[in-house]
Amino acid sequence: MSVRRLAPDAVQPKTFAFSKTNDNWADGQIAKYPKGREASAVIPLLWMAQEQAGGWLPQKAIEAVGRKLGMPYMRVFEIATFYTMFNLQPVGEHFVQVCGTVPCHLKGAREIIKVCEDKIGPQSTVSSDGKLSWLEVECLGACCNAPMVQINYDYYEDLTPENFAALLDNLRTGKPVKTGPQVDRSCSEPLGGGDTLKDKALYDGSAVGRGDWQSRVKAEREAARKAAEAAEAAKAAAAAMAAATPAAATPPAPAPVATPAPLASAGGEKGRAAPAAKSAKAGEPASAVKPVAPPPSHKARESKSTAVDAAAPKPAEAEAPALLAKPRSGKGDDLKLIWGVGPKLEKLLNSLGVWHFDQIAVWTPKELAWIDSRMEGFKGRAVRDGWIGQSQKLATGWRPDNAVGDKPKGK
Ligand code: FES
Repeated sequence: MSVRRLAPDAVQPKTFAFSKTNDNWADGQIAKYPKGREASAVIPLLWMAQEQAGGWLPQKAIEAVGRKLGMPYMRVFEIATFYTMFNLQPVGEHFVQVCGTVPCHLKGAREIIKVCEDKIGPQSTVSSDGKLSWLEVECLGACCNAPMVQINYDYYEDLTPENFAALLDNLRTGKPVKTGPQVDRSCSEPLGGGDTLKDKALYDGSAVGRGDWQSRVKAEREAARKAAEAAEAAKAAAAAMAAATPAAATPPAPAPVATPAPLASAGGEKGRAAPAAKSAKAGEPASAVKPVAPPPSHKARESKSTAVDAAAPKPAEAEAPALLAKPRSGKGDDLKLIWGVGPKLEKLLNSLGVWHFDQIAVWTPKELAWIDSRMEGFKGRAVRDGWIGQSQKLATGWRPDNAVGDKPKGK
């Protein structure tokens, strides 16, 4: 540790005054503190005075700071002599601070100091050309890159007598120099490169049981893209089919629906016919509307449903979804992963031209009705088991835990 004394009178300048720019800057610093606490700005002002004076604090600069802040000179001297960041002796254009604390000492700081003595001269003296001066200081916080020096505002680390001597020569002659480690490593990573945290599994989630999430996300995005493309293709195909067969695309005219007669008027033919006639088409005789029988019981409805389905007209071909003569890439999706679809239904779907989840994922209500009308023996399954919703999930790449699919909620 150096002795903290003011420089001898012989090197002290006779005057010091802040430049206009620095004076304005000092006012800004002082304004940060409450009235009566201007002394709080003493350290930044001393620092600026040191910069302006060429890297050290002449006595006149310390006094100028005291006047600026309304502080007794002695209070400012106490601060300037306490903190080693303030140089009380003139320094060279390149001021070298050599760390001499234990880690740097063990790694060769003595040899670095020897180079300073040889190339610059005694400690705290400026070289004859004014370019260099040096000082031994305590730990500068770069111990893992020991030995090291600070030159002005930069650190130079991993020094050897050879590379440090070359560094001083280059600084002296104005050649470009490399700051930081002087060996082949980045910052303070281990010599020879990093040797920890190299396992890629640490970054893809597999280390915590989340599998290769990057591949999974990629697959999901790809599946979503394909589903969107299939939807577009299906729309275009439907539009083309509708244009080619305009008659088939026209939805059948809805059958007239008779309104049930109120019980109070059920006794007379006239009483029943009058309200029913309201729903008949204009010009159609009221007698054309058949009287409506009371609704069948729930059981009766169930027993008749198959017969009714069979009697219902099949949706026109124009309502068909996008179908494929064969699976893309020669292999269809495992449709049995849709909960409720077994081998038989899968075969039936395949025979219709449905091979992939992304085909089902984009069915419209009309297309769903078209498919359902061809599910002989399984009518209503597609709606009941939510095939579209399940397929949208499956098309993203998601897979259920078992081979029969994931039972939809509430089923
Ligand atoms: S001991 Fe030299 S930087 Fe810490």
